[in-house]
Amino acid sequence: MLKSYCLRSGRQTGAQKAAYNALYPCFCLPFSQSALNFAAVFGNANPVVCEIGFGMGGATAAIAESNPKVNYLGVEVFKAGIGKLLWEIQNRMLKNVRIIEADAAQVFEFMIENESLSGIHVFFPDPWPKKRHHKRRLLQRPFTDTLAQKLKKEGYLYMVTDWEDYAQHALSELNQTVLLNNEFSFFAPPAQWRPQTRFERKGLLKQHKIFELYFKRRA
Ligand SMILES: C[S@@+](CC[C@H](N)C(=O)[O-])C[C@H]1O[C@@H](n2cnc3c(N)ncnc32)[C@H](O)[C@@H]1O
Repeated sequence: MLKSYCLRSGRQTGAQKAAYNALYPCFCLPFSQSALNFAAVFGNANPVVCEIGFGMGGATAAIAESNPKVNYLGVEVFKAGIGKLLWEIQNRMLKNVRIIEADAAQVFEFMIENESLSGIHVFFPDPWPKKRHHKRRLLQRPFTDTLAQKLKKEGYLYMVTDWEDYAQHALSELNQTVLLNNEFSFFAPPAQWRPQTRFERKGLLKQHKIFELYFKRRA
């Protein structure tokens, strides 16, 4: 699979760097080619939701704080964002968040067991708007087949984007992902549980519309 990201060079602030150095060993899991045991990682048997590409992690931290009985596994490649989410974990005293600093394609191939996740969140994935770059988009087959395999029966995949063309493309790809079922006939209504994200604010400033997709793994 082609890389779905371009490593952003955004420099870590002092606080992000300090959080990264001090907290990485406590809350980050090194990439490995063996599957994670979620009960051992989180110290409980609560459901696990994985977020791909949490950016600066503001929405991740807010959702985790509101849902202490759910475990959140964030996957991101952007160091400054990882430092920021680690800072949030400490600041909000979150016990239910872990982070993997790696490409989600690799993480899902090696580290996530089949039928182990209760949900997958993808908030405002990189849109790759040029046609020649569409192949880099994260939410397309065969990766959506892999994502679906990792969901428990009835587990959900939720995606939101401010790029209409990507929304249509992802809708078509997810509709063709055999293990998934669209819970709505087209796009989903706005999710009340999701805090606004940084990239959502950027999109809204450009007058973009927001498109949400909500699929469940077939029972
Ligand atoms: C457009 S930003 C959105 C960030 C955040 N979700 C938000 O809404 O503000 C997309 C993020 O996904 C991350 N990303 C893209 N592809 C990824 C991959 N394959 N694995 C991990 N992270 C990825 C990028 O590093 C970037 O931080």
